[in-house]
Amino acid sequence: MATVHIESKREEIANVVLMPGDPKRSEYIAKKYLKDCRLVNSVRGMTAYTGYYKDKLVTIFPSGMGNPSMGIYSYELFKEYNVDYIIRIGSCGGYSERLKLNDLILVSASYSESNYALSMGGYKDKLLFSSEYLNNIIESVARSLNKRLIRGNIYCSDAFYELEYNYRDRVKDKDVLGIEMESFALFSNARKFQKNASCLLTVSDLFFSTEKLSSAEREKKLDDMIELALESCLKL
Ligand code: HPA
Repeated sequence: MATVHIESKREEIANVVLMPGDPKRSEYIAKKYLKDCRLVNSVRGMTAYTGYYKDKLVTIFPSGMGNPSMGIYSYELFKEYNVDYIIRIGSCGGYSERLKLNDLILVSASYSESNYALSMGGYKDKLLFSSEYLNNIIESVARSLNKRLIRGNIYCSDAFYELEYNYRDRVKDKDVLGIEMESFALFSNARKFQKNASCLLTVSDLFFSTEKLSSAEREKKLDDMIELALESCLKL
């Protein structure tokens, strides 16, 4: 079975899927962490891999950038491939002055002005929640691995460069830690299909400082988040 955007057979996609944004990152994760892994999709260069992390079969599937792209892949994975759990593993810009570079955020809810949820589910909500079931697992695994997790809401924007304009005005009365671009479509699809979705984010930029991570540092620091997500899969 295949969909318009995914060429995999149904049995080639695991029940648990980790979704980085970048297809190169899915390859990096698969090659570094999975045993017996194989390429299960390369339509549009969205290289997805399925293999074993310890004894657990997982798929690493890239979402691409933005709600529309995440919306397509998570929709097809939940609906056509019977996936039950998706954890997004991405990066975000930090608004909150209590954040430092490399902090790890577990998203409680995603605030967005995107029309995605309205178009797909008729949901008028601007705030969509992640799965408490999955979040509890991730939090307890983080405690056991001694990893510090910050819980809070995120702003999910459709426009990366809105930052250069009026981002502070748009979110000043919203209780958000930072900005990314994919969680809202993911949570919307999870709600529509009554599945579980969560979102882990590494803070890659800070808007109150000029400090930035180099791409090499970014890759290395992302390992912390990837390991937490993979260890959490073992509990599913
Ligand atoms: N904006 C939107 N998404 C992001 C950013 C940003 O600054 N950084 C990482 N993901």
